[in-house]
Amino acid sequence: FMKRRKTWSRYPPGPASLPFIGTMFSIDFHKPHHSFHQLQKKFGNIFSLQNCWNNVVVLNGYKTVKEALVHKSEDFADRPHFPIYEHMGYGKNSEGVVVARYGHVWKELRRFTLSTLRNFGMGKKSLEERVIEEAGFLCAEIKSEEGKSFDIHVLINNAVCNMICTIVFGDRFDYGDETFNKLSQLFQNSLNEETGFLPQFLNVVPILLRIPGVPQKAFRAQKELMDFIDVVIDKHMKTWDPAYTRDLTDVFLKEMEKGKAAEENGFHYSNLRLVAVDLFTAGSETTSTTLRWALLYMLLHPEIQSKVQAEIDKVIGRERPPTMKDQASMPYTNAVIHEVQRCGDIVPVGLPHMTYRDTELQGFFIPKGTTIIINLSSVLKDETVWEKPNEFHPEHFLDAKGQFVKPEAFLPFSAGRRACPGEQLARMELFLFFTTLLQKFTFVVPEEQPRPREDAHFALTNSPHPYLLRALPR
Ligand code: HEM
Repeated sequence: FMKRRKTWSRYPPGPASLPFIGTMFSIDFHKPHHSFHQLQKKFGNIFSLQNCWNNVVVLNGYKTVKEALVHKSEDFADRPHFPIYEHMGYGKNSEGVVVARYGHVWKELRRFTLSTLRNFGMGKKSLEERVIEEAGFLCAEIKSEEGKSFDIHVLINNAVCNMICTIVFGDRFDYGDETFNKLSQLFQNSLNEETGFLPQFLNVVPILLRIPGVPQKAFRAQKELMDFIDVVIDKHMKTWDPAYTRDLTDVFLKEMEKGKAAEENGFHYSNLRLVAVDLFTAGSETTSTTLRWALLYMLLHPEIQSKVQAEIDKVIGRERPPTMKDQASMPYTNAVIHEVQRCGDIVPVGLPHMTYRDTELQGFFIPKGTTIIINLSSVLKDETVWEKPNEFHPEHFLDAKGQFVKPEAFLPFSAGRRACPGEQLARMELFLFFTTLLQKFTFVVPEEQPRPREDAHFALTNSPHPYLLRALPR
């Protein structure tokens, strides 16, 4: 591989590579975006790494990322192969959406996901009504804490996870349900299993996964999560009545009924379970973590919390539940939510892409099959775009007249062909949960508690360190 690299005269520069291990020791896999920031300063916006023999190129800053993902969208639309997921049932033509290789089956399943998320609730309750209802359950649960100090983490996870349960399996769980709490815990643990040096190493040296017991030991929570999904789907299939559509699983089953052509388009049982798990993993932790950042920033900036509440009181009042129609009349609240996403920097290094063909970027040559890391953190904190990149500053999203504006470098959902298909749903959840919570409660740091930490814990997502709060009814 050393020889191959040398023959590419315009290949991006990078740190010195050691035999076998490559540049893996140049990266802190528990905070990769911090390492990338240092390397960006040294090598520029496009630099290369070597994970053992796997070529990796990291893209930094808004201009570079936009050029790759938007202007050369197809060149950068593939995903690398992840051997560490094989034990969960991933394989050829069974890849779900998130880690699927770019191609026909991915396109079909992505289109299916987007349209099902969009048309959800035809004739029945809309998704918006379901979020409003769930926000009501969440507030009731918070109220039962009676203003005492508590950790809101599990409750937020439950509320957000319930939205995915509703979409995928047609029903929500009660917050006290034991199975539900186990499910939430499994998600958290399976995310943790994907972080750090070991999973990266196993991906590039997959032979180690053949050692009996290794995948079971390294990815126990992922395996349990998959088993859980299988049980729910099996139950679901037994109660399926083609005359009714309860949820996304039913729509998928209907597609599967269409026979061989549908199967070739990816609509078979293995993909049903993988699409289901994709929506849980991609759609719950991201949204709930954003809401936890939102409340943390409100604790740290009570004056901003008061301004949001004043806008809620003016536009919605204290009784009527917020709806999406209110958003257009609430520029300040909207700006605060966007700033939470920018400053919280929830998915700092995105998901890995791979070049679909040989390509060029800003004069550099990047060959087909190169793993591409989109450093979203470097876009959301790009010093050439944001006035105060490292501060919580809602004015980033307000013009001189106090109207909402969205700078182009706001890319928490990434961009291009692989951009997050859950953006619309996530936006709706963030707006409705956040405004309902601040309509009903004022959040404060308990007297005996120190000021909560503002730095992040990284495990694929950047999440806040645990904190306690008091929710005072308004
Ligand atoms: C992919 C962010 C919520 C489903 C992604 C990606 C990001 C992202 C950065 C990677 C895009 C890329 O590869 O360039 C977020 C954030 C969310 C959120 C910040 C919440 C605040 C959701 C929700 C769902 C969802 C609610 C669905 C229920 C997906 C899927 C993909 C994805 C299926 C893979 C797309 C593909 O590979 O074609 N998301 N997401 N996400 N997200 Fe989201």
